[in-house]
Amino acid sequence: MATRTPLMSGNWKMHHNHFEALATVQKLSYLLGGRDEDLGVEVSIHPPFTDLRTLQTAIEQDDMPIALGAQHCHWEEKGAFTGEVAPAMLAKLNVAYVICGHSERREIFGETDEWVNRKVLAILANGMTPIMCCGETLDEREAGGTDEKVAGQVRAGLAGVSPEQVGGLVVAYEPIWAIGTGRTATPEDAQATCAVVRATVAEVAGAEAAERVRIQYGGSVKPANAAELMAQPDIDGALVGGASLDADDFAQVVRFRD
Ligand code: G3P
Repeated sequence: MATRTPLMSGNWKMHHNHFEALATVQKLSYLLGGRDEDLGVEVSIHPPFTDLRTLQTAIEQDDMPIALGAQHCHWEEKGAFTGEVAPAMLAKLNVAYVICGHSERREIFGETDEWVNRKVLAILANGMTPIMCCGETLDEREAGGTDEKVAGQVRAGLAGVSPEQVGGLVVAYEPIWAIGTGRTATPEDAQATCAVVRATVAEVAGAEAAERVRIQYGGSVKPANAAELMAQPDIDGALVGGASLDADDFAQVVRFRD
């Protein structure tokens, strides 16, 4: 049976300028014990694009136990795409993880399953790891459509990705109704849908990839609920919004075993 190291990711969304970002990661690194302490988890921080270079320098100079992440990218290598950022530009900054298909990108900016798939392929082609998001709306949940919606997003997002690559990436299950609302899925509900994600990965990429793939839960994760969510067998980490903005809160989430 594969051992999956939990990945605890902080998605800062459109918060923290580069001064605030620097202060937050410095404090976070200190609270995580730097490289001296092995917490048995990986940590990534996904700041706004304007903070990436500052955080890259800080993380590398101080050897912080934090991987650099991005929130978004285009799939094209270069070209006339005003406002967009190419995967190769992120890779050049030693970005390790890139979120794609976040519900805010899908719902507010109209990203489709096909775009998400192109991004997954482009992120992998540039040597980085996608954190591909999926999740249902409240209406879809109440109509009993959660499994179908999530499985459909996973199938579409992973089209054309090799089983080997699927095993190495991260899928984040984020029920839209739980994002920024303070309303978390119960550990049982989160587990049930993460199991659907894993079963769908098995269907499209085989049992070995499904055993290796890491599945995060996201949606109002905070210090008070992190441990019970992380205790679920198919939950291999958390994608954290609000509670990742404050170093003390996020350190407590990362230290869910304490
Ligand atoms: O990507 C993380 C996210 O959407 C969850 O946000 O604030 O509910 O933790 P939040």
